[in-house]
Amino acid sequence: MSNNHKTDKTFTLINDETGDRIKLPVLEGSEGPAVIDVRKLYSQTGHFTFDPSFTSTGSCKSRITFIDGEKGILMHRGYQISDLAEKSTFTEVCHLLLYGDLPTRAEKEKFEHDITYHTMVNEQINFFYRGFRRDAHPMSIMCGVVGALSAFYHDSLDINDPRQREISAHRLIAKVATLAAMTYKYSIGQPFMYPRNDLSFAENFLYMCFAVPAEPYKVNPILARAMDKIFILHADHEQNASTSTVRLAGSSQANPFACVAAGIACLWGPSHGGANQAVLEMLDQIETVDRIPEFIERAKDKDDPFRLMGFGHRVYKNFDPRANVLKTACDEVLEDLGIDDPRLELAMELERIALEDTYFIERKLFPNVDFYSGIILKAMGFPTSMFTVLFAVARTVGWISQWKEMIEEPSLRIGRPRQLYVGPKSRPYVDLDDR
Ligand code: SDX
Repeated sequence: MSNNHKTDKTFTLINDETGDRIKLPVLEGSEGPAVIDVRKLYSQTGHFTFDPSFTSTGSCKSRITFIDGEKGILMHRGYQISDLAEKSTFTEVCHLLLYGDLPTRAEKEKFEHDITYHTMVNEQINFFYRGFRRDAHPMSIMCGVVGALSAFYHDSLDINDPRQREISAHRLIAKVATLAAMTYKYSIGQPFMYPRNDLSFAENFLYMCFAVPAEPYKVNPILARAMDKIFILHADHEQNASTSTVRLAGSSQANPFACVAAGIACLWGPSHGGANQAVLEMLDQIETVDRIPEFIERAKDKDDPFRLMGFGHRVYKNFDPRANVLKTACDEVLEDLGIDDPRLELAMELERIALEDTYFIERKLFPNVDFYSGIILKAMGFPTSMFTVLFAVARTVGWISQWKEMIEEPSLRIGRPRQLYVGPKSRPYVDLDDR
């Protein structure tokens, strides 16, 4: 990144014990909070900063995604998520994230061709699936098979070659979707369906998931549009836990397939991408509207591990713009499909009650992207266990775009945090007979 974003502003840090003062420079970006540059803090003060869950820490500069948690803003390369979800397609958003702008018609056709012609996977990968139990959690399979991609594509592992970086990015966007569909098929004992080059990204994914060799399958355009919109809404989200995992893995110069596999592992957690599965399980646990107060109280009880899944966000403190789009899409898909899912009414009543409760209001806990996504995915025919896999299919483009941006940083260095050591001081060794 060419511009160093330096300003003439500084913060002065004073050591109250010694009176020593150091000036810390302030860097300013194009949107959002400025940052205090503490890169020289240790060499100047012998002290580290301390911020275990990074609530006040910027880990990098990025041009890809901006989030304003107070205003509920999410934009990719300057385009608002609501505009992209309404007016664009997932492959256009992939181009935007990867290359920095929406594609021209010619660029779109070429990009979609490149992605389409990477959707097949090496036939050997089919045999990896045979090693898993059919009832393995789909995310456990995805962790394995996505990492295994690096065993096949030796011609695009040189991270210092821009063309190989681009091919790996295309391969990951295309093949993670195919592997996800294969994972679903394997879990239900049906044969894998090969990708079709005459279908769009979303249509092809639905085809690979729901078609069977025994008869023709026509993709429902309503489902295809909903799938495409869900992929757009989950594509990237600044430096969230899984993206930070991909960046940290990439900082060691590990290959992009291994880095994305690390991201998938992190996304699986119920505090992160695993929340969409947890929301549906929670709604099924609550079962009826009259039991909502009981679970609201449990969510507020510090001694009860139960949390209102799909609520709260580290950054969004008024609303998650993606949840708003998903809520509308939820109504449309269920109406178009003629599905009356009582869980939607339960979810809306749960949201209404929670948002009137001072506990949630004081802590600024609102529905996040995961709160409504599961209801749509269920209506589309996906089992709950596949929800986080679908999140990974979409987020692969965000992970690989952020990885590419980091690798292209001229000052790439391995990420290596320090710590506050609170363990035992040095002590003499104790032989086994004396313990
Ligand atoms: C995603 O980072 C991203 O961008 C992630 C994501 C993306 O696109 O990549 O947006 C995707 O991961 C969305 C979040 C999905 N997770 C969930 O829905 C799980 C439920 N939510 C929580 O676990 C929690 O809200 C987090 C993990 C999302 C955020 O955690 P924080 O920022 O560390 O907040 P916290 O745990 O410190 O909570 C602050 C307070 C605490 O109470 P007090 O100690 O102040 O009394 O709010 C409470 C928490 O107990 N709280 C909740 C709650 N979430 C927070 N109480 C009940 N139910 C909840 N859901």
